[in-house]
Amino acid sequence: MQEYNVSFGEKEIALAVERFGSPLWLYDLNVIEKRIWDMRSFGVVRYAQKAAPNINLLSKMRELGIDIDAVSAGEIVRALRAGFAPDQIRYTADIFDSAALDLIKEFSIPVNIGSPDMLIQLQEAGIKVPLAVRINPGFGHGHSNKVNTGGEFSKHGVWHGELENVVKKAAELGFDIECLHMHIGSGSDYIHLSQVVSAMEHTVGSLAALVPKLKIISVGGGLPVSYKRDEVWHIDLEKYYNIWDAARKRLSNCVGYYLQLEAEPGRYLLAESCVLATEIRAVKKMGKNLFYLIDAGFTDLMRPAFYGAYHHISVIHKNGGTSGEEADAIVAGPLCESGDVFTQEESGIVVSRKLPLAQVGDLLVIHDTGAYGAAMSSNYNSRLLAPEILWEKGKFTQIRRRQTFEQMLSNEIDDE
Ligand code: LLP
Repeated sequence: MQEYNVSFGEKEIALAVERFGSPLWLYDLNVIEKRIWDMRSFGVVRYAQKAAPNINLLSKMRELGIDIDAVSAGEIVRALRAGFAPDQIRYTADIFDSAALDLIKEFSIPVNIGSPDMLIQLQEAGIKVPLAVRINPGFGHGHSNKVNTGGEFSKHGVWHGELENVVKKAAELGFDIECLHMHIGSGSDYIHLSQVVSAMEHTVGSLAALVPKLKIISVGGGLPVSYKRDEVWHIDLEKYYNIWDAARKRLSNCVGYYLQLEAEPGRYLLAESCVLATEIRAVKKMGKNLFYLIDAGFTDLMRPAFYGAYHHISVIHKNGGTSGEEADAIVAGPLCESGDVFTQEESGIVVSRKLPLAQVGDLLVIHDTGAYGAAMSSNYNSRLLAPEILWEKGKFTQIRRRQTFEQMLSNEIDDE
């Protein structure tokens, strides 16, 4: 079983913890580069930066030729700061706030419309930018209900039945629609993929005459990765691309010119590139259960508590050795919350995991945390955001310092 997806190992992690403290996020640029390369067949790869928005990662990824998705004013600021040109950014959201509208206006950032009201608000703000329209095809799918982004219970996109009206309204207001976009959820599969492809073909086919400036078909993100070490699969990207490319060709024939294919991955590019290194601070028995309590909580990695998401876990013994003995252990964090457990299922049921027998001071490594890891951290329980470190050309560089108590408190101090 290959434990690590990153190219550094136990020795380097232990050294990094010695140098930067614990907990900490360790990313491997090689993995990110490889995943971007995997997707090169797509005309445009637009990174969904919500997965990991550190500006140092963004600027490295920009150098590798990707475009960028922004879902908020803050993400526009990050993209600009990382050196993306405004026309490499697309704002995809269901609403505008005033900060987002100001930035879109100032930099002429293309927008993906997620509701009819957004069209009106662009018009009222005197903004004319190229548009995409995000389509809710009436169904969705994801690794958890919380990441299903299609269907009647989803707030995302323009309902397929409303589409014609929205497209006509856009034309009436003088907007060019350059892109039609569909993202039904994260962690989807081939069955749902074929459903999306036919929904996209149907939609584009029926709207073609109303969108004469259409250039791009965006297939959204959602490419799954395998988090479990005993499920050895890897998405067949060639198959995925070929299915979409065949649809692209049919649609190009339908409109009579070349349409480009765009993908918008987050997880696929980042998930396997990072581990969260933590230290075991207590080992205790609760009745028949053994707990390893670590110094990271769901304030660091929220996915297990929020979705019941599975992450592979390994142990690095502080003296370098191992007895080879294993134990069924529950891994939990430091927060004043019973749900602060890394080994749990979607319903919140706590489960144990077979792990090496460990003691206080050993390091516990949580794998495949690059996507929606540091990105979803918070200051709950007044815990500080952990540093992010990048492994590049055989050495670690700090790309985000550990937050300080003063930084955490700074906006609460009235120093005027
Ligand atoms: N495009 C759109 C419009 C999206 O809403 C998303 C994700 C993506 C692309 C990227 O999806 P990906 O390729 O990463 O699956 N926090 C959750 C995932 C939420 C995803 C939200 N939207 C998690 O930890 O699994």
